[in-house]
Amino acid sequence: MVVVSTSSVAAESNQQLTHPVCFVGSGPGAADLLTLRAAERLRQADVLIWTDSLVCPQITELVPDHCETIRTSTLTLEEVIPLLIDRQRKGAHVVRLHDGDTALYSAINEQICALSDAEIPVEVVPGVSAYQATAAALSSELTIPGVVQTIVLGRAGGRTGVPASEELDHLAALGASLCLYLSARHVEEVQTTLLRHYPDDTPVAIAHRVSWPDEWITVVPLREMARVSQDRQLIRTTLYLVSPALRGGEQRSRLYSPDHDHLFRPRR
Ligand SMILES: C[S@@+](CC[C@H](N)C(=O)[O-])C[C@H]1O[C@@H](n2cnc3c(N)ncnc32)[C@H](O)[C@@H]1O
Repeated sequence: MVVVSTSSVAAESNQQLTHPVCFVGSGPGAADLLTLRAAERLRQADVLIWTDSLVCPQITELVPDHCETIRTSTLTLEEVIPLLIDRQRKGAHVVRLHDGDTALYSAINEQICALSDAEIPVEVVPGVSAYQATAAALSSELTIPGVVQTIVLGRAGGRTGVPASEELDHLAALGASLCLYLSARHVEEVQTTLLRHYPDDTPVAIAHRVSWPDEWITVVPLREMARVSQDRQLIRTTLYLVSPALRGGEQRSRLYSPDHDHLFRPRR
């Protein structure tokens, strides 16, 4: 199977006035966290097929009045694909909207493969992911020199499962800044696993619906992660940031150190 690029298909068909199906990352929720490109694609959309279980509804208000909008929370892949193909072949600007960034747990791969088999070109517009929005909401950097220099984006196994080498025990063993998606349902098990690798007072940000109007974020010691999540009955749209970087501190980077010369700031 070959993935067809936008430019090659446009050139070959010499414009029957069809447009690529555009996969857009909506960002975490707030419309002003969309990229400019994403907002432009939404304003041009004739058809919006959106993940209503995860995308903040405010984002969909950007589409023009004539735009057909289709929710996908009750549909299967087998139902979504014919919609994408049919509307694209009719010449519509089709936007397929997913939450956060398109590269993370977005299920765009299976859709792009099916469109490729149908020789339909695609465009992908990335978005701000939940971990970035959470770190920003906390005014935090997750890579503090001398403390932690790696960010792991992962999830607890759950129903979908993860490859054995990516089980939480392995991810946690790094002791890095760990961003856990899709894991609130398994928080008790997650906490038990994390406590095997991080000190029990490691800060954990619990972020629910970051940048939505009802955003709720708190930072607790790891030993409190499960209790606080359960008290709040968090199951969906919750991200965990487990990181020694959330302790703050004043470690500074070498980049701006007076004794560190480099190409743009040679030795004075
Ligand atoms: C199917 S995944 C998609 C992730 C998305 N592509 C991203 O880059 O953020 C859905 C999970 O992302 C996280 N998530 C997405 N948006 C969020 C938000 N606004 N606040 C907190 N967590 C969010 C939650 O862990 C949620 O269960």
